[in-house]
Amino acid sequence: MGELGGKTLDWVDGTILMVDQTKLPTSVEVLQIATVSDLVDAIRRLSVRGAPAIGVAGAFGVVLAAKVDGVGTEAFAAAVESIRSARPTAVNLAKMVDRVVATSDGGFDAVLAEAYAVRDDELVASVKMGDNGADLVVELTGRSDSVRALTICNTGGLASVERGTALAVIQTLHERGLLEEAVALETRPLLQGARLTAWELQQMGAPFRLIVDSAGPHLISTGSVHVVLVGADRIAANGDTANKIGTYSLALAARYSRVPFVVVAPESTIDMATVTGDDIEIEDRGDDEVVCFAGVASAPDGTHALNPAFDVTPAELITAIVTDTRVVRLDRGESLDSGQG
Ligand code: MRU
Repeated sequence: MGELGGKTLDWVDGTILMVDQTKLPTSVEVLQIATVSDLVDAIRRLSVRGAPAIGVAGAFGVVLAAKVDGVGTEAFAAAVESIRSARPTAVNLAKMVDRVVATSDGGFDAVLAEAYAVRDDELVASVKMGDNGADLVVELTGRSDSVRALTICNTGGLASVERGTALAVIQTLHERGLLEEAVALETRPLLQGARLTAWELQQMGAPFRLIVDSAGPHLISTGSVHVVLVGADRIAANGDTANKIGTYSLALAARYSRVPFVVVAPESTIDMATVTGDDIEIEDRGDDEVVCFAGVASAPDGTHALNPAFDVTPAELITAIVTDTRVVRLDRGESLDSGQG
């Protein structure tokens, strides 16, 4: 990871370098991506994943397309569209691709400068979300130490460029000496919690335990955690939030047990063009991830699966949405209407 200087991905020597997240935690390997089709494959198989990270990957993907095809050509437009649609749920991918393409009249240098700006904006946003979220956790829980926070999937530096979103809040709590324990859901079927979040928590020296996904609502109901912190793949204009499958059941449990449920995401994840959660396309990732485990069949041959990668938590179950620029208290009737989005 040395060549990435601690980042999850970057533009280096005319190519995209990224940590291959499918290899963690057993090995830390860096992938070098030199073509748009290799980038699209990497996004689809989750070598790079997490809403902000695929937004940055998409931004650098436009640079690759500009380099190989030249801006403004038919091949450039086709390459851009293949990146844009590689995964449907996280809005950051299409949004960041569009943001960089909008500068393409300025040629390759303008496109590269905008992609770097996308990367740098995410870096700054992660630090601000960490601070805003940690302040809010103290306010909501009334705890000035010993916070126990539950989280799902991976929302750390691996899902962004550095630090991340919900896990950035946990990291900030830890750095401020306020974190008693993070509780991480393993996050079936691809184990982003077990493979990636546990690895990142270990790297930062934070106290944590790992649980099976179905233990989440139980631990919320028994008062074992003070707050639930989750990321987002797309936040609709009314606050409905798509995130990793299993998030909705945590929100239901949190509401029933009066535990604060907080969504942490950069402004770039808010999609004011999507009116409600009903309008969010949920990616279905097919049978294999469910009927096999580590390449070994875990269900009888011929079994078909339902494999929605995300679910939608209605705004009314969300206590607050924390972004890099604001805290929107949905529990107090505030909405996303004002400010950036
Ligand atoms: O399928 P994934 O691993 O890309 O899903 C990621 C999530 O659901 C994250 O919670 C979300 O993208 C926010 S990441 C900061």
